[in-house]
Amino acid sequence: MPVRISFAGKGGTGKSTLSALLVNYLIDKGLNPVLAVDADPNANLNELLGEEVSITLGEIKEELRKSVPDSMARYDYVEMRLHQAIIEAKGYDLLVMGQPEGPGCYCAAHSFLSQALEKLMRSYSYLVIDNEAGMEHLSRLNLLEMEHLIIVSDASYRGIMTVGRIADLIKALNIKVDNLWMVVNRCPQNLPEELKRYAKEIAEKHSLKLLSFLPEDPKVLEYEAKKIPVFEWKDSPLKKEAYSAFERLLNS
Ligand SMILES: Nc1ncnc2c1ncn2[C@@H]1O[C@H](COP(=O)(O)OP(=O)(O)O)[C@@H](O)[C@H]1O
Ligand SMILES: [Mg+2]
Repeated sequence: MPVRISFAGKGGTGKSTLSALLVNYLIDKGLNPVLAVDADPNANLNELLGEEVSITLGEIKEELRKSVPDSMARYDYVEMRLHQAIIEAKGYDLLVMGQPEGPGCYCAAHSFLSQALEKLMRSYSYLVIDNEAGMEHLSRLNLLEMEHLIIVSDASYRGIMTVGRIADLIKALNIKVDNLWMVVNRCPQNLPEELKRYAKEIAEKHSLKLLSFLPEDPKVLEYEAKKIPVFEWKDSPLKKEAYSAFERLLNS
């Protein structure tokens, strides 16, 4: 089984940015093959990685619900479509979940697809999953067990409080996580000691390991505006700090 690393947290905290940086880190360290999964309906992980999306898993499910060619066994068809949905990028693969299903019965589509997905995932050493805030896709992916889950917060009291709530949600959803981490992202240079202490308190209370306080990086906005993929980020304080955090995480 691959090492499964997933990001959670409320919108805008930096999950996609950190997911992309983790993919970059794994490739740099030769820790491959890597499958990156964009499990946010408002997919943008591909932009950070500099890739175009062709078909999403959501679209395949929609197709399956309508019809599949008679000539082909259903499972073989699903597997074929799934392989077409995989974006083969430089040093890693990317899969985009896309929009969640609409009303109607997707049970058959779901069971075929999850079988094919499980088989697919076993061929990678690392899985990086960029989740939406609600983590709905985790159950759709049948990903109810993972080695690492990183809950990302902004550098605020409310943000850190939300991390505690998300940790509780994960327990309520029966998601089995070996290592539950907290990351406080976009920290100003003069981050108040009180906020650090509060983060430690919440981490302890919810059995989270406090991984890192990552800096606010003014260059990130520029990279985003110019659509510069993470692989080309040079001298980024965020990238540097994120790399040492990932190192600690993988050596834990
Ligand atoms: N450490 C950082 N410094 C500066 N900007 C950041 C940092 N982390 C994330 N951002 C910016 O914050 C916004 C939200 O980040 P994103 O990764 O899309 O969050 P999420 O996936 O959690 O919604 C983006 O515009 C991103 O460029
Ligand atoms: Mg995102």
